[in-house]
Amino acid sequence: MNLYPASKFTYEELTDAYNETRVDYLVPMPMNVARLMEYCRVYDVSLEHSCVAVEEETVLGLGMLGVRQGRGWITRLGVLPAGRRKGTGTALMTGLVDAAERDNLDTIWLEVIKGNEPAHQLFHKFGFTETRELIVARRAPKTVLDESIFDKIKRITTLNHEDAIILLAHREERPNWLNETESQQNVRNLSALLVELKNGGRGWVTYHAGLLQLTRLIVEVTVGNPTEVAEAVLTVLHQRHKRQDAIAENLCEDEKWLGFQKVGYFDSFRRIEMKRPL
Ligand SMILES: CC(C)(COP(=O)(O)OP(=O)(O)OC[C@H]1O[C@@H](n2cnc3c(N)ncnc32)[C@H](O)[C@@H]1OP(=O)(O)O)[C@@H](O)C(=O)NCCC(=O)NCCS
Repeated sequence: MNLYPASKFTYEELTDAYNETRVDYLVPMPMNVARLMEYCRVYDVSLEHSCVAVEEETVLGLGMLGVRQGRGWITRLGVLPAGRRKGTGTALMTGLVDAAERDNLDTIWLEVIKGNEPAHQLFHKFGFTETRELIVARRAPKTVLDESIFDKIKRITTLNHEDAIILLAHREERPNWLNETESQQNVRNLSALLVELKNGGRGWVTYHAGLLQLTRLIVEVTVGNPTEVAEAVLTVLHQRHKRQDAIAENLCEDEKWLGFQKVGYFDSFRRIEMKRPL
């Protein structure tokens, strides 16, 4: 088996290989070429640092590396089902760690879906340790909202993409790679709502409003009770976007999460964030 940089392959070949590694995955996540290209752009995936394992002209698996200011992020790792438990996952991980070391990165991050024991074991073997558990939450459109919350609101301010990036850059909580300002900056047309409560509470949400879905949701509570303010901010958001369903990725299980649940978000699945110093 040989390892090659992913930059030697077309996006079509990478997409086909990726989809084949995921046919039996816990959470189905098929990709098409446009989505994989967008994914690599938004998350700063470097195909030069990413690896493809090949044996006799057959792709066995692949793994990708995002690179940002001294940090790496392993993603899209997968081996085709027929070729597992023969050391390909280990070879890909070695290739990705080597690529990160060559670039003098300090730390590598990754996430593994909770319950994916093969991958979790593999990452432990490579010295990764758990940092936190993250929730991927969803909400159906038209879930009933508590309209009385509007009585508590003093002011709502609508902000544009540039303002959204400024808000995101001033967050106190350490965001996960997907939600880092670097990722959000690479997304076009973010919107934001700033909500102030009569009791002094204050918070905001940034998001991308697609025709059918709200994505890239990030809520920050700057003043006041995290549950109450998050609930108010999200009530305003969903009152304005009644038709779209929503997905909020990589939330922490904290008081803000209670606010999400109050407006109808449910826990879809969980990821375990892990890191390894280099
Ligand atoms: C996770 C995955 C990449 C491992 O690839 P692989 O080629 O089978 O891995 P290797 O043969 O190199 O195994 C290396 C280690 O992984 C762990 N591992 C692999 N398969 C395992 C299994 N079924 N159960 C438990 N541990 C397993 C073991 O620690 C193993 O070391 P060992 O053989 O000394 O016990 C592969 O199972 C896969 O592609 N799964 C579907 C996609 C996926 O989950 N990707 C990761 C997303 S975060």
